[in-house]
Amino acid sequence: MKRYDKAVKHVITLTLNGMTRTGHAESRMLLVDFLRHELGVTGTHVGCEHGVCGACTVLVNGVATRSCLQLAVQSDGMHIETVEGLNRDCPGELGDLQQAFKSHHALQCGFCTAGILMSCTDFLKRVSMPTRQQVTEMLSGHLCRCTGYTNIVDAVMDVATQRMEKKRVEHA
Ligand code: FES
Ligand code: FES
Repeated sequence: MKRYDKAVKHVITLTLNGMTRTGHAESRMLLVDFLRHELGVTGTHVGCEHGVCGACTVLVNGVATRSCLQLAVQSDGMHIETVEGLNRDCPGELGDLQQAFKSHHALQCGFCTAGILMSCTDFLKRVSMPTRQQVTEMLSGHLCRCTGYTNIVDAVMDVATQRMEKKRVEHA
């Protein structure tokens, strides 16, 4: 296992939204700060900085993770996905989840939105046709101070239905 010295900056190389990125981090630097300040990828927000609000959620090796609870040095060699990487095959276009948030008015200030989108991305990979209760439980890991949660649940349910319908048509 690598040993990290507090005083020095470490070279961290990870895969961010499909691209290899390298930067420097002190041992105590949080992953979210590394993404924002070292790599300049600022879509991921920082709220509470202690794992409560969910604003900083990214995918780490495909799993929704609080990037304020993981150090940059722990992320060396890992695959990180942030909101910037959603729908990256069609740059400049919204993905289905983002479009559904827009259509259902599932955001206002948007501060919580990047994190929620990443949790929803992970969730819908695991639970393709969830109940409203399951979506509500998933969202319980996120604080949204201005939109309320009903529209967010509506957006997630809409996407799940659209994806199921798309699959049904593809396999017809
Ligand atoms: Fe990470 Fe709030 S900033 S959970
Ligand atoms: Fe403002 Fe959620 S949209 S905090």
